[in-house]
Amino acid sequence: MRVVAVWSIKGGVGKTAAAVNLAFFAAAAGLRTLLWDLDPQGAATFYYRVKAKVKGGGRRLLKRSAELQLLVRGTDIENLDLLPADFSYRRLDLDLDARKQPQRRLALKLAPLADEYDVVFLDCPPSVSLASESVLRAADALLVPVIPTTLSLRGLAQVRSFATKRGRRDLLVLPFLSMVDRRKTMHRDAIGLCAADEGFLRAAIPAASIVEKMGVHRAPLPAYAPFSEPARAFAALWSELDARLFGRR
Ligand SMILES: Nc1ncnc2c1ncn2[C@@H]1O[C@H](COP(=O)(O)OP(=O)(O)OP(=O)(O)O)[C@@H](O)[C@H]1O
Ligand SMILES: [Mg+2]
Repeated sequence: MRVVAVWSIKGGVGKTAAAVNLAFFAAAAGLRTLLWDLDPQGAATFYYRVKAKVKGGGRRLLKRSAELQLLVRGTDIENLDLLPADFSYRRLDLDLDARKQPQRRLALKLAPLADEYDVVFLDCPPSVSLASESVLRAADALLVPVIPTTLSLRGLAQVRSFATKRGRRDLLVLPFLSMVDRRKTMHRDAIGLCAADEGFLRAAIPAASIVEKMGVHRAPLPAYAPFSEPARAFAALWSELDARLFGRR
């Protein structure tokens, strides 16, 4: 099982869009896939038409005895399960704090699922916090959407140093360009900088209103616009991620 956290210090950069669409492609490739919606806003849960309510809420979810499997829901997509968000994730940080080994909590919760899934995507809320540390421990790869502006590049530098400082040198930090608008000079300039950065995945997701329509269709992009430019970009992103996670399958 490989755990991919879609993660950024910044909000609104395309984390959920990436998690939702990459999970779709992973499942379509035949991998047993789990999408864990860690964001109290529950956007990923909404896109996949899964009921958000987790009985007992996030507090119960973090108890050692709670069986994560019981809370997993199926989706309309074959091979794809989802662990729904719940408003009580707002208290996730507190809950993690209240128990021993908070940084290891997510990793411990995921451990029993190792035989059930080939890949797990964590759709993370935007923050650096105790919950983030827990995510960092659990993840094999951090997938970081970067909008091509200087500010987002600074955010990426922070992500990299955050990972290194936590002693996770084995962690794959995989940035990619998100919401790219080539008409903007600032974007074109920043794209040049990113192209020179060898850590970047090559696929870039264009800014396109068809991506926003996920909320209208309540479906991942490739389900309603499989041949659109951004859908093909997400497919390319998945191929690269697949290669980095599993080598040649
Ligand atoms: N490639 C894209 N082109 C245009 N709009 C996009 C694209 N990707 C995402 N969006 C839209 O931008 C908004 C933010 O995207 P998304 O929810 O994926 O970001 P996020 O990083 O998960 O945000 P948050 O930090 O709030 O969780 C959403 O309204 C989404 O529909
Ligand atoms: Mg999100």
